[in-house]
Amino acid sequence: MVVKPNVKELPGPKAKEVIKRNFELLATTTQDPETLPIVIDHGEGILVHDVDGNTFYDFGSGVGVLNVGHTHPKVVEAIKKQAEKFTHFALNDFFYENAIILAQKLSEISPGDFPKKVVYQNSGAEANEAMMKLVKYGTGRKRFIAFYHAFHGRSQAVLSLTASKWVQQDRFFPTMPGVEHIPYPNPYRNPWHIDGYADPDELVNRVIEFIEEYVFRHVPPHEVGAIVFEPIQGEGGYVVPPKNFFRELKKLADNYGILLADDEVQMGVGRTGKFWAIEHFGIAPDTIQFGKAIGGGIPLAGVVHRADIAFDKPGRHASTFGGNPVAIAAGIEVVEIVKELLSHVQEVGEYLHKRLKEFEEKYEVIGDARGIGLAQAIEIVKSKDTKEKNPKLRNAIVKEAVKRGLILLGCGDNSIRFIPPLIVQKEEIDVASEIFENALKAALE
Ligand SMILES: Cc1ncc(COP(=O)(O)O)c(C=O)c1O
Repeated sequence: MVVKPNVKELPGPKAKEVIKRNFELLATTTQDPETLPIVIDHGEGILVHDVDGNTFYDFGSGVGVLNVGHTHPKVVEAIKKQAEKFTHFALNDFFYENAIILAQKLSEISPGDFPKKVVYQNSGAEANEAMMKLVKYGTGRKRFIAFYHAFHGRSQAVLSLTASKWVQQDRFFPTMPGVEHIPYPNPYRNPWHIDGYADPDELVNRVIEFIEEYVFRHVPPHEVGAIVFEPIQGEGGYVVPPKNFFRELKKLADNYGILLADDEVQMGVGRTGKFWAIEHFGIAPDTIQFGKAIGGGIPLAGVVHRADIAFDKPGRHASTFGGNPVAIAAGIEVVEIVKELLSHVQEVGEYLHKRLKEFEEKYEVIGDARGIGLAQAIEIVKSKDTKEKNPKLRNAIVKEAVKRGLILLGCGDNSIRFIPPLIVQKEEIDVASEIFENALKAALE
């Protein structure tokens, strides 16, 4: 028997008080108390218990962080043990062994038959900052290519790569110069209106052609250091590119000596049923940026990269907390737990995908259901024919689901992601599917 969500009043009195104080004292972020008025008291596995005693299924995993679930006993134990020994000793200047153990594990599980090194950081944005510095330093090239709808973080230089929503850029210009954006091969929506599910090769060819014909018309290819990409676009809507895309992109990159910089901050660490999402696409990128899930909820991020672009002089790059020993201790456990979960993720991921595809067939307002493993999403439209985006209905569905105890998160303009912790069971997916369908019906009324 699985535990089911149970919501009496949302927000309850205690949650209302915390939310009020939150807005009095904390900076504005992306919080939306109208839709997600959840104040956590504690969590376990896929469950979140709020301060008023309501219980939810967390199908957002704290925005892609809690891949091993809330308070995984092994991760908690590792954190406690490390905290009792030492909590900080500035890896910039001193040494400790667990940082090396994790770096070795990450290097071994990353594709590419070449020597690798690891830079530790604290957040996904910082990982991408470090990647850009590595590329500039290691190649001597200063320009980058990134994709429309990409999200790589919000720090000032990384904003030049992010092209997800203009609100993220508004009033922060100028960002770093030298970044060129190109369309991502979105099989459902792309500038060429190609049905990229029916004709994936054609879609791939158009993107490659776009780089050769348009970008390289004014950008000298020998000045481009790296093409930065998400193997599946996350904040952009959980968009899965055609299977062949990264192989073709690599051919083009190799022709011009350009590196491939793979942002796995949201899609990595087992989310798709392989440790890194790029493993589904059969190439070895030159850098892998990781973050979010790797620390099991403790801030930890970084880059696994080919050793020949490494910072080779002291002072080129460093971060006081990068590779914090408590975060690393959690990370070592996360890697081992996730490795054991990969086949489970493939199995339950297919199950969840099938359920979402059934909804796609049944409901006119679900234009597309897509994903790999437990990185799944649906796109909400006004009708299947027009594909007109319906963000209002999307928001209403999320709100109705949360009221019923299922935490879902939007992504893109009009999509909803289904990204539970990787430990989720089929029975729990059934419960979540039923709640989702009720929420959808309520939102349509
Ligand atoms: C693909 C990707 N890269 C980078 C980031 C930025 O990570 P952080 O918020 O930890 O800076 C995110 C966050 O959502 C992300 O999804």
